[in-house]
Amino acid sequence: MAKVMEKETVKETTGTTGNDLLALLNQQVANWAVLHIKLHQHHWFVKGPHFFDLHAKFEELYNEAGQTMDELAERILALQGSPVSTTKEISAAATVKEHAPLKSADEMVKSVRDDFKQLINEIGQAMEVAEKQKDDGTHDMLIGIRTTLEKHVWMLDAYIK
Ligand SMILES: [Fe+2]
Repeated sequence: MAKVMEKETVKETTGTTGNDLLALLNQQVANWAVLHIKLHQHHWFVKGPHFFDLHAKFEELYNEAGQTMDELAERILALQGSPVSTTKEISAAATVKEHAPLKSADEMVKSVRDDFKQLINEIGQAMEVAEKQKDDGTHDMLIGIRTTLEKHVWMLDAYIK
């Protein structure tokens, strides 16, 4: 019974409106791929009295970004979609902006905080679409990712203040 319901849900999410959800999920895959490299950039270029803390924190966050990207891409595949998988496709689908290495540790922390806030908003939009399509699996996954991001934003804000 559960299997039948699951199949029906997958079918629904690959219908006409399902493409919108797949596009939103691909936007997330692309954004996490960009964040994966951006967080490496901060990890490599951070300087100053908080070097050891931030160097380690950025590493923790890029590892998490890699896992999140993989989780989202594999969800797209489970929905019979096709995740972005080349740097060209990622650049075209990403909304997170890249930049040259930032000058100060504070600027880096603020940049990560702002990128995470942007993702919280975008994931919220994808959640609404998933909910409309009764795609509980995707909705549940997105809630988990968003909740983790909210915790990171709180911690990064606490660091800045
Ligand atoms: Fe390293």
